[in-house]
Amino acid sequence: MREHRVLVVDDEKLVCWSLSQMLTGAGYAVQTAMSGAEARAKFTDFIPEMVLLDVRLPDANGVELLKEFKGHDEDIVVLMITAYADADSAVNALKIGADDYIGKPFDVENIRHIVDQSFEKKKLRKEVDLFRRELRKKYDYDNLIGNSPKMIEVFKMIKVCAETDAKIVLVLGESGTGKELVARAIHYHSARSQEPFIEINCAAIPETLLENELFGHERGAYTDASKSHKGIFEAAAGGSVFLDEIGDMPLQMQAKILKVIDAKKFRRLGGSRDIDTDVRIIAATNQDLPLMVKEGGFRGDLFFRLNVMTIPLAPLRERKEDIPSLANYFILRLNEEYGRGVAGISPAALECLHRYDWPGNVREMRNAMERAMMLEPGTMISQEFFNQQIRNCGQAKAKEASPSVHEPPAVSECGYITLPPDGISIEEVEKKLIEQALARFNGNQTKAANCLRMSRDTLRYRIKKFGFQSAGRDDD
Ligand SMILES: Nc1ncnc2c1ncn2[C@@H]1O[C@H](COP(=O)(O)OP(=O)(O)OP(=O)(O)O)[C@@H](O)[C@H]1O
Ligand SMILES: [Mg+2]
Repeated sequence: MREHRVLVVDDEKLVCWSLSQMLTGAGYAVQTAMSGAEARAKFTDFIPEMVLLDVRLPDANGVELLKEFKGHDEDIVVLMITAYADADSAVNALKIGADDYIGKPFDVENIRHIVDQSFEKKKLRKEVDLFRRELRKKYDYDNLIGNSPKMIEVFKMIKVCAETDAKIVLVLGESGTGKELVARAIHYHSARSQEPFIEINCAAIPETLLENELFGHERGAYTDASKSHKGIFEAAAGGSVFLDEIGDMPLQMQAKILKVIDAKKFRRLGGSRDIDTDVRIIAATNQDLPLMVKEGGFRGDLFFRLNVMTIPLAPLRERKEDIPSLANYFILRLNEEYGRGVAGISPAALECLHRYDWPGNVREMRNAMERAMMLEPGTMISQEFFNQQIRNCGQAKAKEASPSVHEPPAVSECGYITLPPDGISIEEVEKKLIEQALARFNGNQTKAANCLRMSRDTLRYRIKKFGFQSAGRDDD
C-alpha cells in the first residue's frame, strides 16, 4: 500500500507537531507548513493528496489558499481547521469546495478518524466512477475466447505479464483480433486491477491535444487553460495506460514517451516539477513496426524498449479452430443482449464461417453473427442471413468439388482462390489482389503492403508496373 501524502498547514507549531506525530504514526507521509508561502512551496514540491488547512495564517487567508489548491488539483482533499469563533469562514470554505472542517481546539484521535474517512470516501468515489466506466467493458475481459494453440500462447503471455507486473507490454495484431481485450485482461488479472485502466487512441487525437491528454497541463499553460488538468499518466497512477494505435503516434510524441519510460517521470505542460509515474504501459498496433522503423515512421529506440513482452495476436484466418467456440460464445452473449433463444448454428452455416477469411477478424465475425441472429426467425442460425461474401465462400467449396467449365473469376470476393480449368495469368491475380488491398485500406500503402505480406517498396514497384494511376496514396 503506498503512503498517502498529507500536508498540515497551521501557524501554531504545536498543532503542526501533534498532527504530524499522529498522522505519521497512522501510516501517512506528512509535511508541515507554518505560513501561506511555505504551504504553496510544499504544495508544489510535495504534491499532497490532502491538506489540513488553517483558515487564519499570518501571510495568507486559508480560504484563498483552498481556492488556489483546488484550482491546481481538483482531486485534492482539503480539510479546513477553524477556531469555533470562525464558523462563518468554515461554512464559506465548504461552499467553495472544502471537503470538511475541523473545529479548534480538537481531539487528535478524532482528526485521525476524519482523515481516514476522507481518504476512504475519496477512494470509494474513484472506484464508483471507475466501476461505472468499466462495467460494460470489464464484463468482456474474462471472455477472451479461443482454444487454438495460438490463443493458448496468448493466454500464457497474459498470465505472465499480469503476474510479473511487466511494466511494458506490446500487443500486435490486425484490426479486430482482440488487442484491447488482451490489454484489459492483463490489467484486470494483475495486482493493479483495483487501480485505473485508462486507454487512449493515439490515432484518433490530433497531435496538439495528444500531449495534453497524456501529460496534462498546469493552469495558464496556454490561453484556455483556466484549470490545471491531470493527464492519463497521472490519472492512471498505480494502474495501466493503454496506448492504442501506437504506430500512429507522431514521432515527436514517441520521443516523449520514450523519455517517460526511461526516467519514470514527466512534467505537465507548462509545469516545472517532475511527477513520478508508476504505470504499466500496454501499447498496441496493427501496423508493422519493424517496417515503420526501417522507413523512418517509428523510432527504433522506442520500438526496442516496447518490444520485450510482446503478444502477437494471429488473424482469425490463421486460427480457424477458434471459430466454433467463438460462434457459440456470440450466440450466448447475443441471446442475453437481445432476449433471444437461439440454440445453435447449422453445420452449413458453420462451414461458411470456416471458409471465409475474415479480413476484419473476430470483430467482423461478431457483426456477422449479430446480423444473422437479428434476422433469423428460427432457433438455428443458417447461412441465409450472412452477407453475400460469407455465403459465397460456403459455395466456393461446392464448386471446388466439381469444377465446371465456366468457372467464375479466379479470385472470389472473399479472397478464396480457385484455379480456373483453362488456367489464368498469375499477374492478373496479383493485380486483382493489390487492387483489393488498396481498396480495403482506402489507398493506404503501408496497410495494403502489410496485408499482402510484402514491403511497401515492393508494393510501390507493382503499382507502377501495373500502371495504377493514383490508386495508392503516399501515406504515413
Ligand atoms: N478472442 C476473442 N474472444 C471473444 N471476443 C473477441 C475476441 N477477440 C476479439 N473479440 C471481440 O471482437 C471485437 C474487437 O476486439 P478488439 O476491440 O479487442 O480488437 P482490436 O484488435 O483492438 O481491434 P482494432 O485494431 O480495430 O482496435 C470486440 O467486440 C471483442 O469483444
Ligand atoms: Mg483496438
